[in-house]
Amino acid sequence: MKKLSTALLIVLAAAVGALASQAFFKPTAPAKAAETSALDTREVVPFNDEQTHYALTQMRGFLETLIIMDNAEFADDFQEIAAVAAVQGPGQGSGQPSGFHDAMPDGFRAMTKQMRQGFGKAAKAAQAGDLEAYIEAKQQAQNTCIACHASYRFQPQN
Ligand code: HEC
Repeated sequence: MKKLSTALLIVLAAAVGALASQAFFKPTAPAKAAETSALDTREVVPFNDEQTHYALTQMRGFLETLIIMDNAEFADDFQEIAAVAAVQGPGQGSGQPSGFHDAMPDGFRAMTKQMRQGFGKAAKAAQAGDLEAYIEAKQQAQNTCIACHASYRFQPQN
């Protein structure tokens, strides 16, 4: 009897241990990227994971372009400004994942267009050496960064 209950205890302990370790090590659903606060009232852009990844990669490129443009402006290198700004001009969003364009809310698409037009105009103004027009065009592009970030957010839909 004593032996039996010891064996039973061991079995029970093993079972409890297995359950506990399962609870510990069971992979939970992968954490959703870009889980945002309930306080965030910005509209969610219904991109899937691939589209979100593409959009964020583009975003980092926009920031990099603006910084290169500023550095080139300080160095009075308008050729460099024109070259990098033109890359972000209209029709330059290449390699988009399928469905990307259609998934954009209208306001989002409109601001993207306005931003690309701003970069395009900035490239032309820099090429022409027109500093005033350049600054205005760069501001057009930058204002769309601010406006869009205030209105939209990503939360990959799969
Ligand atoms: C049409 C809308 C729109 C425009 C225009 C836009 N962005 Fe974004 N950007 C977003 C959204 C939405 C996010 C994700 C924000 C979030 O989910 O909190 C984002 C994220 C980013 C990020 C973070 C990238 C990352 O890897 O997390 C950077 C940097 C960025 N934007 C830079 C820019 C710059 C610079 C400009 C302007 C030249 C710009 N964006 C224009 C919508 C836009």
